[in-house]
Amino acid sequence: MTSVGIDAIEIHTGKLRLDLPETFAPAMGDAPEKYTKGLGLHASSFPDTYEDIVTMGANAAHRLMTRKGLEPDDIGRIDVATESAFDQSKPVSTYIAGCLEQVFEGDFHHANKGERKFACVAGTQSIDDAYNWIRAGRHRDRAALVIATDTALYARDDPGEATQGAGAVAMLIDEDPDLVELSNEQGFGSADETDFLKPQQQFPSVDGKRSVNVYLARMREALIDYQRVAGTIHAEDFRLGPFHTPFPGMVRKAAVLAYRHITRDTEIEDELEAEIGRQPRHEEFDDDEAYMEALSEYTDALQGTERYKTWYARTIDPTLDISRHVGNWYTGSVHVARVSGLKSLAEDGEDAVGERLLVGSYGSGAQAEIHVETIQENWLEEIDALNIDEQLEARYELTFEEYEDVHDAHNYDEDAVVEEFTVPDSEFVFDGWGRMGERKYRFVE
Ligand code: HMG
Repeated sequence: MTSVGIDAIEIHTGKLRLDLPETFAPAMGDAPEKYTKGLGLHASSFPDTYEDIVTMGANAAHRLMTRKGLEPDDIGRIDVATESAFDQSKPVSTYIAGCLEQVFEGDFHHANKGERKFACVAGTQSIDDAYNWIRAGRHRDRAALVIATDTALYARDDPGEATQGAGAVAMLIDEDPDLVELSNEQGFGSADETDFLKPQQQFPSVDGKRSVNVYLARMREALIDYQRVAGTIHAEDFRLGPFHTPFPGMVRKAAVLAYRHITRDTEIEDELEAEIGRQPRHEEFDDDEAYMEALSEYTDALQGTERYKTWYARTIDPTLDISRHVGNWYTGSVHVARVSGLKSLAEDGEDAVGERLLVGSYGSGAQAEIHVETIQENWLEEIDALNIDEQLEARYELTFEEYEDVHDAHNYDEDAVVEEFTVPDSEFVFDGWGRMGERKYRFVE
């Protein structure tokens, strides 16, 4: 069977930075530790006034195509995953293709374009669509461009405001990929949930505490479903576990549950028995409440063991490095986690070819998907080509008052005129409105 996966990846961060412990916490009357320790976040990225989901996606795709020496004819499909779309009919991918046609020779007239929506899981679903398209042999030797782009803003004073972020991830899905190969096996956990939604409104309605529990429940279902098709998995099978990261504290909660699940009935459970006992079994309890309490006690104890801490530090923690400094990018978030983990392996000089990643994607509403990726021979070249550190470093530091202005500038209900904070350089920018209410873009040299 042909190998299909992610051949290249590029990230574009919103160009403004809000420091959470230093700037946001004092203004909100919160302890800085709520952000750094509780949520695990230090900063959020925001789009400048000339940035939006189109410019961020187009800038990431432009860099990717330039670096890989691609022309529009090499691309047979452009899918954009977003939950920040501004049009109910015309997909963001048409706008992005229009931008790219301003700078590349040729056009994308024979590429199939679309837009994927299922909260944050839509980026992974777009990769799945591209994978299936290639495997079905309908791609005519062309690759697919998948772009996950979002401006993840919450209403002012919503608890979710602490987790905001903005950025785009562009990925090239192709045969014989340079970065990671995708597993054919997938597991799903999906249910009709009302935890986070945007019924014809810009900012989400969120039941924050419930959304955390729904995330955990659907991830668990997806893991069980994955094991059903791929067989039992072991904690040490995976070098990294990139999960959807709305904030790192969420992944901290999910990781220990996943570890508990995959170590049950294994030698790891046996080895930990003397220290923390065995995992509670449902049949040993008369009622559900007592079982849940015992499970929660075991989980807390597990989290404190050296064995778990070592696994977490090696498998999960490296995937959170970038997220800590950019916040939630919704559809891009799990793809940022993958990059973050791989970047950390590259920085440690690790020979990671053939190592496997357990990837956990999630979208509210709600659906989780688990699949596995295998690191390919040219991964290091791909990761070394990223300039995300430089982009993060170059962000403009917002004061709280400036943050309020930026939030207003991107709020459809506000008529705020806010000056740009940075100077665009070799990138696509928003250039005003057309006669039918469409957005216009231009490339600034
Ligand atoms: P909150 O009420 O502002 O915060 O809401 P909190 O009081 O729960 O505190 C957060 C953590 O900080 C807690 O840690 C506190 O204990 C800790 P935990 O107990 O949960 O481990 N804390 C402190 N730690 C140390 N020192 C201190 C201190 N103070 C507090 N002084 C909430 C938090 C996540 C609910 C909120 O931010 C929210 O509503 N976020 C948006 C929803 C969200 O991100 N949900 C995540 C799961 S759903 C998902 O991932 C999908 C999503 O990406 C959307 C999509 O799919 O499209 C959101």
